[in-house]
Amino acid sequence: MAQRVRKAVLPVAGLGTRFLPATKAMPKEMLTIVDRPLIQYAIEECRAAGIEEFVFVTGRNKHALEDHFDHAYELDTTLERRGKKKELAQSEDATLGAGNAVFTRQQRPLGLGHAVWCARHWIGAEPFAVLLPDELTLNSPSCIAQLAEAHGRTGGSVLAVMDVPREQTGSYGIAAVRNERGNLSEIVGMVEKPKPAEAPSTLALIGRYVLLPEVFEHLDRHETGAGGEIQLTDAMARMIGRSPFHALRFAGQRYDCGSRIGFLEANVAVALHRPDTRTEARAVLDRLLKG
Ligand code: UTP
Repeated sequence: MAQRVRKAVLPVAGLGTRFLPATKAMPKEMLTIVDRPLIQYAIEECRAAGIEEFVFVTGRNKHALEDHFDHAYELDTTLERRGKKKELAQSEDATLGAGNAVFTRQQRPLGLGHAVWCARHWIGAEPFAVLLPDELTLNSPSCIAQLAEAHGRTGGSVLAVMDVPREQTGSYGIAAVRNERGNLSEIVGMVEKPKPAEAPSTLALIGRYVLLPEVFEHLDRHETGAGGEIQLTDAMARMIGRSPFHALRFAGQRYDCGSRIGFLEANVAVALHRPDTRTEARAVLDRLLKG
């Protein structure tokens, strides 16, 4: 029987160059969608899948991430004294359980594969989730919950995918698949950022993975791939054929919040989705569009 997924790795050491100057002194994972930072959505997605242990792979300028999940003693005490129960609950919601999070550093941004490799000692010998927090996914069950459930059935690695227009394959890792049954198919190959004419399919990896710890053996080689970076896609591709490897068509929405327009779209979508902001957001949008 497949082992339960209990731990998640959150690689947050990227430079965020697509979002400069916002990311000059602030991590892009602290960019806010309506009223909470991207990173908190990723944590909530994990919690919805029963994952409570987190490894953050951070880099320079990332202190705000650590502080966000800490107990904010002065703020919480003031809120308590003023009887602001709702606000206090919101602040406490963003606190992680004692000993449930580790922050390790990727000293140089050598690529996503290298960032995941930096988490190896904290993951040990069990399957684990990887979430790229600049990708926001919305659905119930959460994307990671869908992957963990599929992993429970198939064992091995399971990656979330979605169809993208062919002209966009150069922005994604692309999977070649066979034996599609329902929303699951076997992955037979993977390539990072292929040109549209060379892409084996239009199924793009969307930054949500459940992986076996064997991936660290492949990342140990520190081989560089597309863009001169150590690519997670290349290490995963070497595992195909050695253990079960599946793509899951994720049911739900996904927003690329690492790009300006994706981020804007996510803000609008979440505001229109949430019961507490829906009506006002719609009115504002109507007004702006008419103007
Ligand atoms: P991106 O490809 O979005 O790179 O990384 P980036 O540096 O964050 O942003 P841009 O493209 O310059 O605007 C995908 C994920 O991998 C992490 C990022 O933090 C993000 O979650 N990453 C990437 C690392 O942790 N380390 C790296 O060396 C590269």
